[in-house]
Amino acid sequence: MTTEHMKPGQKLVDLLRSRGMRFIEVHSGLSTLIACRARSLRTGRGFDGLWVSSLTCSASVGVPDLEMIGIDRRLDTIQQIAAMADLPILVDGDTGGSLSSLRYLCTTLRRAGVGGVVFEEKTGEKRNSLDAPDQKLAPPEEFAARIRAAVDMVSADELMVFARLEGYNASLATREIVERAALYVEAGASGIFIHSKSKQSDQVLDFARTFRALGYKVPIICVPTTFYATTASQLFEGGLSGVIYANQQLRAAAAAMTETCGAILENDGVFELENTIMPTKQIFDLVGYTLEISRVEKLARGADGLAPSLNS
Ligand code: SPV
Ligand code: MG
Repeated sequence: MTTEHMKPGQKLVDLLRSRGMRFIEVHSGLSTLIACRARSLRTGRGFDGLWVSSLTCSASVGVPDLEMIGIDRRLDTIQQIAAMADLPILVDGDTGGSLSSLRYLCTTLRRAGVGGVVFEEKTGEKRNSLDAPDQKLAPPEEFAARIRAAVDMVSADELMVFARLEGYNASLATREIVERAALYVEAGASGIFIHSKSKQSDQVLDFARTFRALGYKVPIICVPTTFYATTASQLFEGGLSGVIYANQQLRAAAAAMTETCGAILENDGVFELENTIMPTKQIFDLVGYTLEISRVEKLARGADGLAPSLNS
């Protein structure tokens, strides 16, 4: 079967099994277009997948990452992203909310063509993992039941369901985290997301080594926001299947916007900026404006290049 005819979940599973995947965060149609077209000048390689982050989708509408945005508003953004994407999409499903919301999210994501969703084992008021000093975790059996409720709605080839392990943020030992992961895989999770806010990759590598030693083959992904000195290749060598650059596009854009606003006020004009910001022509090209105008003009002229008369 060619990859085009594969269901989105199956495509994601196959990619994660065949090579290390690099996911980049997106939060809008424009950031999706930029991410899908990015290429390394050195290797020619692009990203392999997109991460729809709760942190950056919240920040881009100006609110904190506290599960404040309702499902329908998040789905609007996801649909905006899906319309522009030619890479597999992995969605940050937060805690999933009530069991019914979690199940509704799964079916809606499947219909939108999303490849995977991640649910986290937090309980109580959701906090961002990079911030919370001591994360409160759901009892493992309770979270396993949530995974079962999700996979009851969607098969893995339609939508991969990842269980997100937060144990390192709650001071659990690797052994306990691995036991939880095993329970979630038995409950039907088709992937594991291991979170750590250590400055080194030691925790995620220790998890991957211990979990793999028990014979588990499901894909394991991580977010190297705090252990940013470790490369993707090093993580893949250590048993990880995917890395998620979870917020870099938004952080880069926010830094550039802040600098730009300040510079306009400092200089009382935009002269000094003109050569450092993206030309409007490039924005037109990026969103297909130039192409669309040329196509519409061609259609208006008719197939023979002449303007059609009103009664032809
Ligand atoms: C996100 O990008 O929203 C995440 C990853 O959940 S983290 O911010 O590291 O929790
Ligand atoms: Mg999140």
